[in-house]
Amino acid sequence: MAILITGGCGFIGAHTSVEMLNAGYDIVLFDNFSNSQPEVLRRIYEVTNENLQFYQLDMRDKERLEKVFMENRIDAVIHLAGLKAVGESIHLPLKYYDNNINGTVTLIEMMKKHNVKKLVFSSSATVYGLKAQVPISESSPLEATNPYGRSKLMVEEILRDLYISDNEWSIIPLRYFNPVGAHQSGRLGEYPNGTPNNLAPYITQVAAGKLREMSIFGNNYPTPDGTGIRDYLHVTDLALGHVKAIEKVMSGVTGVNAYNLGTGKGYSVLEMIQAFEQIIGKHIPYSIVDRRPGDVAICYADPTKAKAELGWEAQKGLEEMCMDAWRWQVNNPNGYESSFELERSWV
Ligand code: UFG
Repeated sequence: MAILITGGCGFIGAHTSVEMLNAGYDIVLFDNFSNSQPEVLRRIYEVTNENLQFYQLDMRDKERLEKVFMENRIDAVIHLAGLKAVGESIHLPLKYYDNNINGTVTLIEMMKKHNVKKLVFSSSATVYGLKAQVPISESSPLEATNPYGRSKLMVEEILRDLYISDNEWSIIPLRYFNPVGAHQSGRLGEYPNGTPNNLAPYITQVAAGKLREMSIFGNNYPTPDGTGIRDYLHVTDLALGHVKAIEKVMSGVTGVNAYNLGTGKGYSVLEMIQAFEQIIGKHIPYSIVDRRPGDVAICYADPTKAKAELGWEAQKGLEEMCMDAWRWQVNNPNGYESSFELERSWV
């Protein structure tokens, strides 16, 4: 009896693995390390003192993927593996469709072959598109605005078709709002490749002196201070949402049922910068630049469905998100830099 976590070494994967182990599950992970490092595995062990089974593989590699299902009794899958940079997806759409769509189809084919029909999928609030009314509920119309978002939306649609073809499946797409923060131990966190695209890692890298100043993408939005508003949630809360979703798919319900994971509260870019300044005790320099194409003014969740049906609610506030993100930055200025090499038996 084990839960397979794909992309288990990424930012969300590592935190989800920790909370799944803390909840007493046996877990099997795979990752191709395209945007993560083997050191994460050692840190997960350090934080939990629990063992897990790991495979280095790309989910499009059918042969290696099949080995995972042959060598373990998988009950359910938390599918997090995928590419996630919006800007890159606009330049390299086929890379995104190959990874996110073909990869997922290969995975669910393998699940079907091995009679594993319980799945939690990492979707995104981006599937609500530009016109959604806040607070955004799960019944809002869906729309994609870039290849990354379209890949999430397409996978949701593929999963709905899959269920129509075989209604033994139990599938939960989780629509994440803006995950930030880090594990409170300071040992696990987010270390994007190159210059960060997202707000929180950009702020912490400016505060740490790695980047010169923040660019605020527009201050003429129809919001109280003119900057964009988002629903930031602590990555540990997000991880706990996966534990609840796994409980739900394991409970015997069938169908495809999407849930928002957000706090229901929105903060502006300026409020985020101020919150970090308070925690860090340092001024964070910024300048105002043009709006980033494709950004919406305001995006925050209606999280009531997850509370009512999964028993999940975000617990951690903005101060904790900033404190944990900063602790991670200070303790790991170069991310998971380490000499740790995978032992052959792990590969
Ligand atoms: N922002 C800045 N400067 C920066 C980075 C961001 O002003 O350097 C602003 C953005 O304009 C936006 C807010 O900070 O108003 C948050 O931006 P992020 O890039 O951190 O997050 P997004 O809301 O744009 O995107 C996130 C994920 C996507 C996902 C989307 C779903 O990164 O993967 O949420 O809503 F699709």
